[in-house]
Amino acid sequence: MKKKPVVTIDGPAGSGKSTISRLLAARFSFFYLDTGALYRALAYLVDEDGREDIEKAATEISGNARFEIKNENGAFLISVNGKDVSAHIRSEKMGLLASKISAIPAVRQNLLEIQRGLAARGGVIAEGRDMGTVVFPEAGIKFYMEASVKKRAHRRYLELASRKEAVNIAEIESDIIRRDRQDKERATAPLRIPKKAIVIDTTDKSIPEVVEEMSLAIERYMYSP
Ligand code: DC
Repeated sequence: MKKKPVVTIDGPAGSGKSTISRLLAARFSFFYLDTGALYRALAYLVDEDGREDIEKAATEISGNARFEIKNENGAFLISVNGKDVSAHIRSEKMGLLASKISAIPAVRQNLLEIQRGLAARGGVIAEGRDMGTVVFPEAGIKFYMEASVKKRAHRRYLELASRKEAVNIAEIESDIIRRDRQDKERATAPLRIPKKAIVIDTTDKSIPEVVEEMSLAIERYMYSP
């Protein structure tokens, strides 16, 4: 058997990455690394900081941030500078602010080694936007997940509604389109299909179907001579 791989999963908001990553991590007893949560935790601090100059604040804050992350009963918990922010970072507001600050090259640079350090021992499902392209270009297996905007908006709607957040499907759809544009058009580490990635369109697939398909690919890799 090969060394436990780093498995990368990239894709746009709402493509199903988080749900699938969590299930794959549980199935293989790998560590689930939600890199969007790092950007969201920074967004939380930037928002709390309240400075007008977001770029300056985000650069400074990301340069000094100490993250602690853990997987606990299937959940991804994140503390930054000693404060557990897990419950505060999942709103649309934090998603959009995270997307905004993630376009700042210095912020991405500050998070680069942190992310690599967190995956150094292998056996990791690393989920984000630039996992297979920039952070882990040598990863054993790379996936790219996508789905139609309508389907992604619908999933987000259900997720937010289940957390009792006020939601409007048209607004969610336009947020998704805006976030796609921001994430794909930024100059540094834009969202792209990594070379050699397995592309999975989840629009018309069930969660178990996607997990099965991806698990087979991971097993094939792990047990190949
Ligand atoms: O996956 P998510 O919705 O939690 O990510 C929030 C934002 O963080 C996303 O819109 C862009 C940014 N992000 C990034 O630029 N690179 C990553 N590897 C992960 C997230």
